[in-house]
Amino acid sequence: MIRTSTLGILAKPTALGALLLALAACNGVPKPIQVMPDRTDGASFFAQNCASCHGDSGRGDGPRAKTLPQRPTDLTQLSTRNGGDYPAARTLSYIYGDPEKSHLARVMPEFSSAMSDELVPVEIDGVFTPTPPQLAGLLAYLESIQD
Ligand code: HEC
Repeated sequence: MIRTSTLGILAKPTALGALLLALAACNGVPKPIQVMPDRTDGASFFAQNCASCHGDSGRGDGPRAKTLPQRPTDLTQLSTRNGGDYPAARTLSYIYGDPEKSHLARVMPEFSSAMSDELVPVEIDGVFTPTPPQLAGLLAYLESIQD
């Protein structure tokens, strides 16, 4: 018990320090961030916002799927369809709202308005990218469900 809590106390400031350093490197304005969102945070955001179309396990078989003009993507196949690499940058921008396409050109809504303005640094293609925490959690969750 004592050992675990001591480790917890030691680990947190270190992780936070690393986050703040990375964030400072990104935009020069470090903001206090408590915890990096992980797949558990992503899973609950997914259950609330995405599962109705993509299904509980992300396979594209949610209750709303049948009513849509296009079948929701099977989210367990993102890596497979990308030659085995998890397409983090593409996934991120598609969920947030694809800047290259009008949202009218696609069935899936944009989620930028469901995300907070505070940003956490997420490593995407080797570059720390300031990312809304909800999106950071989602990326971790989606990566964890790849076949
Ligand atoms: C209204 C139904 C609906 C909801 C809600 C929805 N999606 Fe989608 N999603 C789709 C459809 C349909 C597609 C197929 C492409 C298109 O028409 O937009 C898709 C495509 C995708 C893709 C594939 C993009 C690519 O690279 O081809 C990802 C990733 C994705 N959705 C993630 C999510 C996540 C994460 C959420 C929740 C934050 C979500 N979707 C919510 C319907 C939905």
